[in-house]
Amino acid sequence: MEPDLDEIELDLFVEALRRRHGYDLSQYARPSLKRRVQGLVRQHGVAHIGELTSRMLRDTAFLPQVIDGLSVPVSEMFRDPFVFEALRTKVFPTLASYPSINIWQAGCAHGEEVYSLAILLEEAGLYERSQIYATDFSDAALARAREGIFPVREARAASLRYQQSGGTRTLADYYHARYDLVKLDESLCRNVVFANHNLATDGVFCEAHLILCRNVLIYFNNGLQDRTLALFADSLVRGGFLCLGTKENLALASAASSFATVDGPARIFRSVRAT
Ligand SMILES: C[S@@+](CC[C@H](N)C(=O)[O-])C[C@H]1O[C@@H](n2cnc3c(N)ncnc32)[C@H](O)[C@@H]1O
Repeated sequence: MEPDLDEIELDLFVEALRRRHGYDLSQYARPSLKRRVQGLVRQHGVAHIGELTSRMLRDTAFLPQVIDGLSVPVSEMFRDPFVFEALRTKVFPTLASYPSINIWQAGCAHGEEVYSLAILLEEAGLYERSQIYATDFSDAALARAREGIFPVREARAASLRYQQSGGTRTLADYYHARYDLVKLDESLCRNVVFANHNLATDGVFCEAHLILCRNVLIYFNNGLQDRTLALFADSLVRGGFLCLGTKENLALASAASSFATVDGPARIFRSVRAT
């Protein structure tokens, strides 16, 4: 049988990215990884994955574009508003009992989720004592997140979701619109640190009271999902909260016994591990 050249080239690409730049994608779910690498081939007008690999090996300046192309920074403010509503009603009251609150938002993409959370914390009177660590493995995504600039149509669409999340003002109070863009209030960033962190290779990031990691594990295979969930279990204080995306779960993960369910549909769990 003819060997599948695309598969061989994809293996070599993943190996080259790991050995040359330290980004390990070997445990990413294969079909979506393949689609994104093929997308890079088209985007950069190269003939095949092998040509992409050789450019990535030799041209260091090309790496951010590769990572940007492999990252899927798709998000929206107040995505799945019932999840934010559950955070507000079932998690915030416990967070309010801590003198200072550490939140880790892993896979922050362009920051939509961070700004949403900052707004709700502000309205609950908790933002002043919160420190949010917003991380992603894509420097390009982090740069966009720091800017806090979004298309005005996205902000308008988010207004309803903000209300559904339990927002008490109007979303427009938090941004300045100019032509077809909005810039979110810089004050929302005053307690946010944006930092590069790779869930596939890096270790514990901070001691957190709440970790949000939504729509990231779906790109990982079971082994890497397990590693990441164990990392979250190790990073949470006892009684700390973990919020996953609506497509993710930890039922079958090895770390499952470290958590109790707080809200099933919103995928909010609480650390019950012994310290
Ligand atoms: C679909 S977005 C999710 C955004 C947001 N959490 C949400 O649910 O709307 C997935 C993000 O995960 C990031 N990501 C993928 N692999 C990662 C890794 N190994 N470490 C850290 N971030 C990663 C991507 O760069 C992308 O920004």
